[in-house]
Amino acid sequence: MTGFPNLLADATDKGFWMPPQASDYAANVDALFYFILALSVFFFVLLMALTGYFAVKYRESPTNRRSSPMSHNFKLEFLWSAIPTVLLIVIFAWGFRDFTALSATPADALELRVVGQRWNWTVSYPKLDRECTSQSLPNGDNIVDIYLPEGRPFTVQMSSQDVLHSFWIPAFRVKRDVLPNRYTGFTVTPTRPGSYPIYCAEYCGDSHSHMKGVVHVLTAEQWQKEFIESDKCKLDPKSPDYKPKLFAKYGCNACHGVKPEQGIIVGPNLHGVVAKGTEQTSAGPVKVDDAYLRESIEYPEKKIVDGFAGKNMPSFKGRLKEEELSALIDYIKSLN
Ligand code: CUA
Repeated sequence: MTGFPNLLADATDKGFWMPPQASDYAANVDALFYFILALSVFFFVLLMALTGYFAVKYRESPTNRRSSPMSHNFKLEFLWSAIPTVLLIVIFAWGFRDFTALSATPADALELRVVGQRWNWTVSYPKLDRECTSQSLPNGDNIVDIYLPEGRPFTVQMSSQDVLHSFWIPAFRVKRDVLPNRYTGFTVTPTRPGSYPIYCAEYCGDSHSHMKGVVHVLTAEQWQKEFIESDKCKLDPKSPDYKPKLFAKYGCNACHGVKPEQGIIVGPNLHGVVAKGTEQTSAGPVKVDDAYLRESIEYPEKKIVDGFAGKNMPSFKGRLKEEELSALIDYIKSLN
């Protein structure tokens, strides 16, 4: 992660207000956008000019009275219905063609799975056994870095752990809602090496604006060397940063600070909770030990720390493997 890229920093050759066109799909979207824009400008100027012209030319004055207005003009009425109809059909056909292209997935497409949760993205490569989890920056951003090869189509299958999110890569001109209990997706081909921002485009709660990512488009050789042959996005239980990565993978970091300076994000700050010994909860004072930490992860509503009622932490019962649960408890105990 080398900082969050500026959306327009390296804006395009093709227009001063658009992010770079970094996918094969981008030019389609921009062409249709500019077509609709040009059409709207043309008719706006034409109609306003005619309105002004007629208002002056046919204004009422003592020498100019028009008491018998015309009621029908078939030719005129036909034209102002037929011309917009044809234009709308053109826009529909053009949009429909491009829209369906998003669903055409070639056999050699790289498969990605995107999971949205409050408030970070997890992107995994099921065939490559990689899973990119997001990192928390000091400014509160949760950023997932993903890596794609230039020129090879990729397809995403997306779902949400909780509420509606929307996966948006402006430089690729793709944005699709991410829903609980349903899969959505698209297929495009990155065409321009570089680093481009990913956003959540559906308001999903407090830290919606921090739910971000960066897609790194690499040349095929670079991708081979810097991703496939590296340990990026590998979650290895033996690696020293396994536990904090696990903490981020399940989104714990979105609500719980682990350093004193992070303060209260949403839920209690976990720094020093074990050392503190007891916690005042909705069920009275509780000794903070492995059993209590485990219970709080699986059944968070049972003993809510005083002052945190109504924060609604989701239950992680059944979502964590036993080893992961132990690793998370060890991690929380190490926060001193
Ligand atoms: Cu997720 Cu907004």
